[in-house]
Amino acid sequence: MAKSDPNWSDVDDYIVRHLIGKDEALDACLAANEKAGLPAIDVSPAQGRMLELLARGVSARRILEIGTLGGYSAIWLARALSDDGRLVSLELEPHYAAIARSNLERAGQSDKVEIIVGKAVNSLSAMEANKAPPFDFVFVDADKENYAAYLDHAIRLSRTGAMLVFDNVVREGGVIDPDSDDPKVPGTRALYAALQNHPKVDATAIQTVGSKNWDGFLLAVVHA
Ligand code: SAH
Ligand code: DHB
Ligand code: MG
Repeated sequence: MAKSDPNWSDVDDYIVRHLIGKDEALDACLAANEKAGLPAIDVSPAQGRMLELLARGVSARRILEIGTLGGYSAIWLARALSDDGRLVSLELEPHYAAIARSNLERAGQSDKVEIIVGKAVNSLSAMEANKAPPFDFVFVDADKENYAAYLDHAIRLSRTGAMLVFDNVVREGGVIDPDSDDPKVPGTRALYAALQNHPKVDATAIQTVGSKNWDGFLLAVVHA
């Protein structure tokens, strides 16, 4: 089974040409990330646009992101917010957070965005202890080993009706292999196991192909 196909990127180019167009702030973000040696594991343009539209679709005023990297997805998410909205984005690496802040500044989004540096589980526990106002939308895209823990935190930090989106839940099909040698697979499988008959969350996962190859998003809504 092919794990990558040049047509996937060609179709992504077509989608971007018609539905997204050229975007100087996002292009500059990717160029700055590359210059700084960040891994090119951001969401694709079409995926970033999808995140923006999903967040707008739930009229998000407060968005939580776990895994900032250079702020590419954060720019998309921040654009879903009105001027008084807030994006809180969690990042382990101070160097990545600094680049993200500069990319968000260039994109005119920095007033809406707070990047918290540290292990996400610690930042999430602190937000819970401080009774942070509930989030309307959560995008989880950090270390896959902690995905099930991030689900629990996201539920505690969200309002009823909030939408949760998890990236990289298919992993070129590796997710169905309990003996996978990809160390990220067990954490991803733990997320699916936690969501099986979950009392508070309805979920699905959608496989994707494109410029980021074969992967997928898990979409969930928190209910009463
Ligand atoms: N959402 C970004 C890509 C994130 S890549 C985008 O699409 O543009 C995953 C990020 O998670 C990396 O920057 C990595 O440093 C960060 N990360 C990994 N483990 C983490 C942890 N324990 N806590 C917080 N961030 C973590
Ligand atoms: C990796 C992480 C991601 O969030 C992603 O979208 C692609 C790859 C990685 O750690 O390899
Ligand atoms: Mg990802």
